[in-house]
Amino acid sequence: MIGSYQAQSQARVDAALEPLFQAPSVELERLYQAMRYSVMNGGKRVRPLLAYAACEALGGHAEQANGAACAVELIHAYSLVHDDLPAMDDDDLRRGQPTTHKAFDEACAILAGDGLQSLAFDALLDPRLSTLNDATRLAMVRTLAKAAGPAGMVGGQAIDLGSVGLRLDQTALEFMHRHKTGALIEASVRLGALASERAGDAELDALQQYAQAIGLAFQVQDDILDVESDTATLGKRQGADIARDKPTYPALLGLDAAKAYALELRDQALDALRPFDAAAEPLRALARYIVERRN
Ligand code: IPE
Ligand code: IPE
Ligand code: MG
Ligand code: MG
Ligand code: MG
Repeated sequence: MIGSYQAQSQARVDAALEPLFQAPSVELERLYQAMRYSVMNGGKRVRPLLAYAACEALGGHAEQANGAACAVELIHAYSLVHDDLPAMDDDDLRRGQPTTHKAFDEACAILAGDGLQSLAFDALLDPRLSTLNDATRLAMVRTLAKAAGPAGMVGGQAIDLGSVGLRLDQTALEFMHRHKTGALIEASVRLGALASERAGDAELDALQQYAQAIGLAFQVQDDILDVESDTATLGKRQGADIARDKPTYPALLGLDAAKAYALELRDQALDALRPFDAAAEPLRALARYIVERRN
């Protein structure tokens, strides 16, 4: 089930993203190429899927969440371009291809990331992507700014890089994961829900519980895959966390306990969706997929 929904979401968001990479003048072609290279390269599109699925869970049409879906994937792509830089994780492989700073150069990768971040906010406001009322758009901009910024993803990345070689306890590790990965996943669900223009406080609260659980599960599984998957399947270097002595769940708890924790989080996510009907089935399938995925 998740396979066909994922393919559909992927196709929908890719079609919406593609026109955003048209350079407005020849001088800017290389920068736009670097941005396009960083986005249109076969990511799993989990965050757009969450935006579409949350919108549909509340009875909205998936297309209403096109701006949200583009925005979260653009922020995600920017975060990966910067995450892979030599000053950060120093990785040379991403989605099975050379990282942006390898395919272009470091300065270009930094600027491509900066550009993608701005495009993300523009996507929330772009009337070609979605027709929403202004109050909805404002709430969406605020949600994304908080999630992507220093109290969200950027803050999590700062903690991650400040923790290399240290032994974090589980509370500190969870705090880091909730910021660096959880914040944007939570925002993806919330933006999709807001885009439905049918979200009441109770629904937003329940979806928030769901998103917190899968957001953490997503990074726990990412850490597990670094240990037990392989580079070809992952499309990024297996063992990179171990090589760099990164604080991860398997490093802290051991592999088996990390896996058990991921499953517990999945069950928490499914519990949070109890009040929802069959329209939330894609969200449920995604929670299962997150802890079963191999890449
Ligand atoms: C990888 O994210 C980085 C993390 C936040 C764990 P994804 O696993 O969603 O990567 P893509 O988008 O499919 O490449
Ligand atoms: C990346 O976490 C999280 C963000 C980019 C915000 P990781 O460093 O674990 O992601 P991968 O493993 O390189 O994809
Ligand atoms: Mg990193
Ligand atoms: Mg990394
Ligand atoms: Mg990782």
